[in-house]
Amino acid sequence: MNEAFEQLINSFIDHEVGIAPHFLNEKLAEGLRQNINHLQHDDLMADAGIGNETGKERAHEMRKDKIYWMDESHDNIFEQEFLQMTGDFIRYLNRTCYTGINACEFHYAVYEPGSFYRRHRDQFRNDDQRKFSFISYLNTDWLESDGGNLLLYHPDSVQSVSPESGTTVLFKSDGLEHEVSLANRRRMSVTGWLKQV
Ligand code: OGA
Ligand code: MN
Repeated sequence: MNEAFEQLINSFIDHEVGIAPHFLNEKLAEGLRQNINHLQHDDLMADAGIGNETGKERAHEMRKDKIYWMDESHDNIFEQEFLQMTGDFIRYLNRTCYTGINACEFHYAVYEPGSFYRRHRDQFRNDDQRKFSFISYLNTDWLESDGGNLLLYHPDSVQSVSPESGTTVLFKSDGLEHEVSLANRRRMSVTGWLKQV
């Protein structure tokens, strides 16, 4: 597993955006997809907010994804495996890069066709606990025509990442502005933040 950890960290150091195409194995990705299907079936995926106190209506113009927060206490082997692995990654990152991360939070996200998340940064204006943004994608055979790419705004270029199953990205939460372009196909992911609290 350290190979994927190294790949994510090294590409982050070299290019400001870490990308590891096979960070999640396909069995784990499939399990997390099934979890999203069950959560949606049980009507547990809810409209996502923005900031930490903005009204729902403004949020809805910004983003149309639905989310559900993970929790170690959930009795689910795939969720527990994901949180175990991200915990291992955080320990590895702290050990190799002295990052001092001591908390994290992750949610499932689903973008139904027609959904997007407009250009934004991940740190709240009144709260700088979020240090790194971490996103794992869950979509098999994603095509360019499916839209729904992650677009990252570098000073002189825009980087596009396809949300292909297993691919994981890492970037600083107070760093690059980014957006999710309009998705033409149902798009699933797990998004989280590595924090200092
Ligand atoms: C977010 C976000 C990007 C993505 O949830 O804050 O920017 O590719 N997600 O899902
Ligand atoms: Mn974001």
